[in-house]
Amino acid sequence: MRVIIVKDTKQLGKVSAGLIAAEMKKKPAFVLGLATGTSPIPLYQELIRLNKSKALDFSTTITFNLDEYVGLAPTHDQSYRYFMNQQLFDYVNINKKNTHVPDGMAKDVEASCEKYEDMMDDVGGVDCQVLGIGSNGHIGFNEPGTSLASRTHMTGLTESTINDNARFFNRRQDVPTKAITMGIGTILDADRVVLVANGPRKADCVARAIEGPITATVPASALQLHPRVTFVVTADAATKLTLNWERA
Ligand code: GLP
Repeated sequence: MRVIIVKDTKQLGKVSAGLIAAEMKKKPAFVLGLATGTSPIPLYQELIRLNKSKALDFSTTITFNLDEYVGLAPTHDQSYRYFMNQQLFDYVNINKKNTHVPDGMAKDVEASCEKYEDMMDDVGGVDCQVLGIGSNGHIGFNEPGTSLASRTHMTGLTESTINDNARFFNRRQDVPTKAITMGIGTILDADRVVLVANGPRKADCVARAIEGPITATVPASALQLHPRVTFVVTADAATKLTLNWERA
C-alpha cells in the first residue's frame, strides 16, 4: 500500500495524473476506471493538459465509470455521464464510443449491471481504477455495509451521502436516492487503484480507510487488500494519519 501526502489539490492533480499517465503509456487500449466528485477534478485537468501537450494519447483508451444516479438521463447536468463529458471527455482525443457509464435509465437494471460487468471482462478488466472517497468512507456508491465481494448493482444512498451531494442540486429533494455502482469486488479486480482525497472533511474517513480495520462499515478500507493501491491525499485530509507515510 502506498500513501503519498501532497501539499494541495494542484499537487494532487500532478502526482495522481503522473501515476496514471505512466501506466497508460505501457499499454495500448488501456482500460481506465473513472470516478466523479470534486476530488478527481485536478487529476482530470492535468490529464487534459498532458493530452493537449501531446504527452498523453487517449485515442485507444477505453473507460468505465464507477457509478451513475438512477433516474438521471445522460443529458441531465447532474448525471455522471454529463460530468465526465464536461470534466474530461470533451477535452481529450478519446473516442466517446469507448467511454462507458452505467445506464441510470435502464429498464432492466439487473440485466444492465450484468452487461456492465461483461463489458469490462470482454476488454480484459480495468487496468487502473481512479477513486474518490465519500465522507462516510464510501467508494463509488458502495455505502457502509455493502458486501466487500459485491459486483455492479443498484443501491440506495444513505442520508449522509444525499446531504453531501445536495450541494450540486437546486433542492435537496432533487437528489436521486438510488444509484448503480460497480461493487467493491469489481473495484478490487482492477490491476491498479489510485484513490484521491482532499480537504479536512475527509480526514476521518481517510484515516479509517488507511489505518483502521478492514470492515464493510468503511468500504474504502477494503482497499487494504489490494496489492497495487496508491492513496494520494492532501495534507489537510491527512491530519488523522499516524504512520510515517511518504510526502511528495
Ligand atoms: C460521490 C461519488 C463518489 C465520490 C464521492 C465524493 O458520492 N459517487 O465516487 O468519491 O461523491 O465526492 P467529492 O470528491 O466531491 O467529495
